[in-house]
Amino acid sequence: MAVLGLPGIPIQLVIVASLAVFALYKIYFELTTGARRRQMIRENGCQEVYAYPHKGIGGYLLGLDVIKEMIQSGKEGRMHEATRMRNFKNGRNTLRMKMMRFRMISTIEPENVKAVLSTKFADYSLGQRRREVLSPVFGHGIFTTDGSAWERSRAMVRPNFTRQQVADLDMFEVHVLHLLDSIPRDGSTIDLQDLFFGLTMDSATEFLFGRSTNTLAPGLETKSANEFVKAFVYVTENMSKNLRSSGLTEMLPNAEWTRNVKIVHSFADNIIRDAMDQAKSQEGSGRYLFLHELLKHTQDPYALRSELINILLAGRDTTAGLLSNTWHVLSKRPDIWNKLKAEVDGLGGEKPDYTTIKEMKYLKWVLNESLRLMPVVPGNSREAIRDTILPVGGGPDGRSPILVKKGEVVSYLVWSMHRREDFYGPDALEFKPERWEKLRPGWEYLPFNGGPRICVGQQYALLEASYATIRLIQSFPRIESRDEREWREWLTITLSSGVGCKVTLFEK
Ligand code: HEM
Repeated sequence: MAVLGLPGIPIQLVIVASLAVFALYKIYFELTTGARRRQMIRENGCQEVYAYPHKGIGGYLLGLDVIKEMIQSGKEGRMHEATRMRNFKNGRNTLRMKMMRFRMISTIEPENVKAVLSTKFADYSLGQRRREVLSPVFGHGIFTTDGSAWERSRAMVRPNFTRQQVADLDMFEVHVLHLLDSIPRDGSTIDLQDLFFGLTMDSATEFLFGRSTNTLAPGLETKSANEFVKAFVYVTENMSKNLRSSGLTEMLPNAEWTRNVKIVHSFADNIIRDAMDQAKSQEGSGRYLFLHELLKHTQDPYALRSELINILLAGRDTTAGLLSNTWHVLSKRPDIWNKLKAEVDGLGGEKPDYTTIKEMKYLKWVLNESLRLMPVVPGNSREAIRDTILPVGGGPDGRSPILVKKGEVVSYLVWSMHRREDFYGPDALEFKPERWEKLRPGWEYLPFNGGPRICVGQQYALLEASYATIRLIQSFPRIESRDEREWREWLTITLSSGVGCKVTLFEK
């Protein structure tokens, strides 16, 4: 008799042997890993974390109930708010849930976030899911690697962000002028969000590679840059969907995806080729360029392309998102507009420099508040690479430490954490720049991440967003919203406005 491809072995014997192997494994596991975990629990006073009440067998086994809700609310542009309402009501700030093959701990406790990103940094990696989703497009760059590969990337990237390089506002002014020229003067409607994405693309490419895509410059823009922008939006939007669906949507074949990834890659390859030629011709010019620095470390086209696309994502979408979200508010809130305009008028029409910008209090408050209520990176996660402890979240009051097992994912939801009334007061949901007069938050305010992987472009982004905002207000002292709709999410890998930013700007 042949059973399961094992000729001559009776099925009963196969079953008994399998059970015996399983039992032996369990005993071994309990004596080693299990014993170690029980000891960690005892020593740290860990308690169980609240388990999310999944619905149905699909929910219980794979978290399908939550994934379905995330996909639906994502389509409606309110996924992060739906998550906040579902997961973090009744003061529940940490919970355990299932998402396909991953066991996940979801938290909005600053102490836990600090542990994951800083004090227990070495216990976590970016995680398998992030690598699976991002690597086909982003390769091996600063956003997709851990350990020594990440350290190498970080060491290459950081020198770009000294104050001297960041504060090159003359370079940025060229692109701002192109933006100002693109705005109609005849009272017609313009979507500022489109222009902000063009602006940050043009300035990021110039800052990093010494050559701008010039998407906003009349006559200088190229077909390939425009195609790239569309393809980049497509792939980042799809990656975001794949992250939300925990892998479900990737199972469907998608020729459009393959085509767009190819456009993104070949655009990057062309920039690299040109930059390599340019690097040769500019030798000795002394100008620091990211790509030139990179070329000193590697000539590998795959590695170069990876870093290039990583930094483009970091530098372009984020600052554009911050500008669009902020200007959406400005177009709807004359009270905030008037206060900001008064501060800008204080410059007497002069272009601002680094020091002036740093002294503009109200502008800083507006940007802080924008990043609080519409954080451009609204949620994030890490995967435990060994058993570790989170300081809070366990027990009936959620104040006891909890055990995080190797392979578990800890997601921290900045959107929801930034809305906690116990930190921001009963008016936490209101956009109120004035709250920043007294507010000095710690880990409960985290638009740029914290710990060793803190955003390297923070100053650059704030300076760029401030400068563009000031120059726009100086050129157009009056604004009217041309859209009745409320702000909603547009989730790619980052967060911007799902209704764009449709306005009319007036020169007087
Ligand atoms: C409003 C604008 C920005 C926001 C809100 C923002 C936010 C963030 C956040 C939350 C992270 C952590 C991601 C993670 O570890 O999972 C990050 C990392 C990073 N950001 Fe930004 N960012 C902004 C602008 C920029 C700009 C303009 C650049 C560069 C031109 C930049 C470069 C980077 C880089 C290279 C990293 C990776 C750091 C690492 O892993 O070591 N960012 N950013």
